[in-house]
Amino acid sequence: MAAVTAAAIMASCLSGAAEKNAGTVVKEAPAEEQPVLVDTLAIPHDKFGESVRYGRELMLRTAYYIGPNGINGQYLGNKMNCTNCHQDAGTKPYAFNLVASHENYPQYRAREGKVLTLAERVNNCVMRPHNGKPLPLDSKEMIAFLSYLKWINSFAPKGSHFKGEKNLDVHFPDTAANPVNGKALYSTYCSRCHGTEGQGQLTADNGTYTYPPLWGANAYQPGSSMHRVIKQAQWLKANMPYDKATHDKPFLTDAEALDIAAFVNDDKQHTRPGVKSFDYPVAAEKPVDYDHPPFVDSFSVEQHKFGPYKPVVDSWKAKGMKAVY
Ligand code: HEC
Ligand code: HEC
Repeated sequence: MAAVTAAAIMASCLSGAAEKNAGTVVKEAPAEEQPVLVDTLAIPHDKFGESVRYGRELMLRTAYYIGPNGINGQYLGNKMNCTNCHQDAGTKPYAFNLVASHENYPQYRAREGKVLTLAERVNNCVMRPHNGKPLPLDSKEMIAFLSYLKWINSFAPKGSHFKGEKNLDVHFPDTAANPVNGKALYSTYCSRCHGTEGQGQLTADNGTYTYPPLWGANAYQPGSSMHRVIKQAQWLKANMPYDKATHDKPFLTDAEALDIAAFVNDDKQHTRPGVKSFDYPVAAEKPVDYDHPPFVDSFSVEQHKFGPYKPVVDSWKAKGMKAVY
């Protein structure tokens, strides 16, 4: 793995805008800020390696194996794949990267108000973004997900941080995110792939998506983190439009990313499957952009959802509380 350079991985996995900027010299980041490079050719050829390999397959072709018509079990409620959000099977920087996950669990989760194992956290994504039912903890599939997550973690600098482990920041404008403006931006930048109704585009065999859906019956549930405006905007900034954005050269401005995320996640305009689960038992631990009351402050549901976020964050800070999003 050490032999693979950051430049090589950037050349191999970035498309569109990156190719256009191929001549740009990327300043070398200090060692601790390098992205983690996972060399899939190094998966061991033994029983553990078999499980790792299946886990990687499951990340990439989730619907094929465990989708509504999955060949190895029917768990997901939709035909999306984990890699649609955790891009490059969870190894792409700034794309809800999963390289550190194995060492970060068990972890206290404010969402449930308790300590969760990594397996339980995987099942949260099976249930919410995939609108499915949980995998049995001792299933071959769950063990494969965990094997894969453990294996990719072996490439990470232990206990330290690396480039793209967390999301890109978005700067909060003074005004609220605007779903009306977001709608116009969506038709300019997004609908050519995700469709005018956010329905996405199925593959020819109907097995999964070439372009995954963003709302409607086949998209992620409202209880998914992707449904939070700030969280989605951070991800969009680094990764969408698919053929134009890179984390080093985002395509959307921060305000545009927030406006589009507000439009995609506007429940007045769009429906989603499943009901939002009313969790976060401790109100003070809710993310700023989680829009279900009760809140520990006096800001409206609307302001929690769309902003302006700065006054909310500042009011929390003034009370000595940590605002998360
Ligand atoms: C619609 C997008 C979406 C899909 C599809 C999705 N996830 Fe997630 N997942 C997220 C988001 C958002 C988070 C939270 C990331 C954050 O807080 O920055 C997350 C978090 C996680 C975490 C916790 C990471 C950590 O270190 O805390 C794991 C593990 C995970 N997902 C696994 C999966 C697996 C496995 C699948 C496929 C079965 C999957 N996800 C499908 C959006 C998605
Ligand atoms: C050129 C086609 C294309 C364009 C344009 C595009 N996307 Fe995507 N989008 C994709 C693909 C492909 C994926 C799945 C990524 C993967 O599997 O690596 C995706 C994934 C997503 C996801 C996560 C998966 C899901 O369905 O929830 C979201 C959210 C998203 N795109 C939003 C947008 C938004 C908003 C825009 C406009 C700013 C946009 N995309 C523009 C192709 C595109």
